Amino acid sequence: MSDKSYPPSADFAANAHVDADRYNEMYQASISDPEGFWAEHGKRVDWMTPFTKVKNVSFDPGNVAIKWFEDGTLNVAANCIDRHLETRGDQTAIIWEPDEPGDPAQHITYRQLHENVCKMANVFKNLGVGKGDRVVIYLPMIPEAAYAMLACARIGAIHSIVFAGFSPDALGARINGCDAKLVITADTAPRGGRKTKLKDNVNQALLHDVDDVKCLVVKRTGDQIAWRSEGDFWLHEELDKVDGDCPPEEMNAEDPLFVLYTSGSTGQPKGVVHTSGGYLVWASMTHEISFDYHEGDIFWCTADVGWVTGHSYIVYGPLANGATTLMFEGVPTYPDAGRFWAVCEKHKVNQFYTAPTAIRALMGQGTEFVEKYDLSDLKVLGTVGEPINPEAWNWYNDVVGKGNCPIVDTWWQTETGGHMMTPLPGAHATKPGAAMKPFFGVQPVVLEPTSGDEIHDYPTEGVLCIKDSWPGQMRTVWGDHERFEKTYFSDYKGYYFAGDGCRRDEDGDFWITGRVDDVINVSGHRMGTAEVESALVAHAKVAEAAVVGYPHDIKGQGIYCYVTLMTGEEPSDELRKELRTWVRTEIGPIAAPDLIQWAPGLPKTRSGKIMRRILRKIAENDFGSLGDTSTLADPSVVDDLIENRMNRG
Ligand code: WTA
Repeated sequence: MSDKSYPPSADFAANAHVDADRYNEMYQASISDPEGFWAEHGKRVDWMTPFTKVKNVSFDPGNVAIKWFEDGTLNVAANCIDRHLETRGDQTAIIWEPDEPGDPAQHITYRQLHENVCKMANVFKNLGVGKGDRVVIYLPMIPEAAYAMLACARIGAIHSIVFAGFSPDALGARINGCDAKLVITADTAPRGGRKTKLKDNVNQALLHDVDDVKCLVVKRTGDQIAWRSEGDFWLHEELDKVDGDCPPEEMNAEDPLFVLYTSGSTGQPKGVVHTSGGYLVWASMTHEISFDYHEGDIFWCTADVGWVTGHSYIVYGPLANGATTLMFEGVPTYPDAGRFWAVCEKHKVNQFYTAPTAIRALMGQGTEFVEKYDLSDLKVLGTVGEPINPEAWNWYNDVVGKGNCPIVDTWWQTETGGHMMTPLPGAHATKPGAAMKPFFGVQPVVLEPTSGDEIHDYPTEGVLCIKDSWPGQMRTVWGDHERFEKTYFSDYKGYYFAGDGCRRDEDGDFWITGRVDDVINVSGHRMGTAEVESALVAHAKVAEAAVVGYPHDIKGQGIYCYVTLMTGEEPSDELRKELRTWVRTEIGPIAAPDLIQWAPGLPKTRSGKIMRRILRKIAENDFGSLGDTSTLADPSVVDDLIENRMNRG
């Protein structure tokens, strides 16, 4: 906690899109007259048929339905490309910075983007993809990833991006989950000087494919790859067969734009569905206002397009605004811990958006890596993905921003499409670690966790929910609307339940305190403990597993696993290693356990429910206050777990 706050300079506020007065005025308008407010701001995108209806929403359990601008039609790709051609056809749309600093960067103009996207869209069509079909994108951070997204949008296909760090199994589950017709991938993907064999992973994922899923391959490295007996195509060969003319498909505002799988507290990841009109309004408006983006600025979001942050703030938001957006193939520490700052200097970046985990990792390497570079073009710094600790915030502010760049700590989720709470850089005094204020149209409330009653007084702490809808809200879970209702609208009736806890301080500003469910946040990546558990128990030697998060200096949270072995199996360091590798191959490197404790028994209630509260406390090395353990079927297991705990820090 920190009481210090940092107001924007008078200069910054005077030139910002939104200053304090304007924020208050616009926020009030957005809450008192949402229909009027969004009728106006819905016009920031180009409609083929203008909407006449603005909002049609029900959060009632059993009847949850969310529609925005429902009788309007548009094309998202045309909004991100075509409408800019006349005024900024020769302006750079995408700057691509490759993994190797010595390799040339690319500057892709809006006109070139148009041609590349139209041609790729025609390739998709030739391969039988049409309106409403699903395309899985499993690509590294190369321009083709953006072309593929926009090509889908252009022809009305629905993309589902799978982060290139996911394993063949995880990829296969997502291809099947959305019943994709086509997967687009690359031969191999360089990242941080190492390579991932993406095409091989696709081959494995499709090994038992009975649906004849086609695979389109981008030649990124020219490395040797294996082809399936049929259904595989080189992108460059297919591009030779098509022309650059592809009229954008007219889509309804509520037609799905993409599905993105994300982890929840139970079961396997769910496909979050975002639609076209409301999502684009939200992504573009938050991009412009939260970062105070101005014409001509160079914007860099360091996320991967495999996560929602990349969707909204590398591709859709910036391009809808006619911005220049930077796409980086590499990692912050390759070839050394100065890479981010070298890229900022090289491309004269004005707004820089990253995750606390990256800041913490770089902070540990010393200030000399930052000080070597000229960062004088930076105007706004952003952070996202997990709570930022004041120490990291202060380093970001002092060392990177030299005290001149407002920091926007943006709280949002895959489900929300774009920013929900953030200080606006020209309007609010920032506080280290606070998400501060709701964006326009967002009504955050703090609920008492058990009663679900709204707490109006502050300072206070409780469960974070959102009253009423906003245009960027997810519409459903792909193929499972019931799960959508159950996950987000059943615990607290009449609200969207975010899964996070929060604090509202004495000034009424919001601080996100972290997940209140069984989702952990590892290096800013969401991970369902249930997913890791099911990967562990799939191993022949594992009888039972329980997974919790624990505080980790760099990652924010680490993955702590309690594992009960099958009778007769001996615990060993070898087996620990084997299980780590096992989980990596089952899910992906981001799910690799940090600590594995052998647990002869797990603390369970008499009805057999694992008491995770106790496991969390032990993993946090905070077992002094375990609370009541008398309801346990066998209280003695707790002593064993404490004695053999892995985290003594
Ligand atoms: C967490 C990422 C604190 C939160 C855009 C949320 C944050 C989850 C912040 C969503 C922030 C995101 N401060 N916590 N500024 N931003 N989170 O779906 O727990 O990958 O529920 O979306 O990340 O993660 P997701």
